Amino acid sequence: MKLSSIIGQPRAVTQLRAALERGRVHHAWLFSGPEGTGKETAARAFAASLLCAAGGDQPVVEACGTCPSCQKLSRGVHPDLVVVLPESEAVARKMLAREDLPRTPSRELKIEQIRNLQTSLSRSPVEGKRRVVLLLGADSLNAAAQNAFLKTLEEPPVARTCCSSPTQATRSSPRPARAACGSPSVRWTRRSSPPRSRR
Ligand SMILES: Nc1ncnc2c1ncn2[C@@H]1O[C@H](COP(=O)(O)OP(=O)(O)OP(=O)(O)O)[C@@H](O)[C@H]1O
Ligand SMILES: [Mg+2]
Ligand SMILES: [Zn+2]
Repeated sequence: MKLSSIIGQPRAVTQLRAALERGRVHHAWLFSGPEGTGKETAARAFAASLLCAAGGDQPVVEACGTCPSCQKLSRGVHPDLVVVLPESEAVARKMLAREDLPRTPSRELKIEQIRNLQTSLSRSPVEGKRRVVLLLGADSLNAAAQNAFLKTLEEPPVARTCCSSPTQATRSSPRPARAACGSPSVRWTRRSSPPRSRR
């Protein structure tokens, strides 16, 4: 899960690497562009760079892949990576059992999920460095959740929070998230043959 393994998106990757090299990373990033072009993969690699223990308190440009933090990330058990996604997507990824839900899995990101996110952000990072949030499918925020999320983005980051929001397409990404992320927005471009193999 390294930025160097992102193929065919040099502008986006350069933008992310430059922020990591400067060591000053904006607290919110909006990843937008065509479907299946590596936005989530890159957001996870970016998260790894921010959480990797090799950098001490600083981010690293390429996560080492071997420190305890990188290992926890690759096993999907890092306590400081908070992943927020619609129920339907969680069911599709087998992170949630369909039968554990009282109703049809929602395709929307709901206000309860944003409130839970706010609660987890109000606590100190478990590993001591920072918390990183991946809000997957920011274009699925319903109206109430959009407003709550906007507030979350506006609040001063307590312990260096970075929020990446991969979305399907720039035009369909929610205006509040776009406005609040303001800068920087990382744009993915269409590829001739997206490598859809590894999911
Ligand atoms: N540019 C890329 N470089 C390397 N791998 C990629 C790239 N684009 C897609 N992939 C691979 O394709 C799969 C889907 O990518 P990913 O989920 O990151 O795309 P996405 O942009 O978030 O898609 P969506 O818009 O559908 O949410 C992953 O297994 C990933 O490894
Ligand atoms: Mg995605
Ligand atoms: Zn590491």
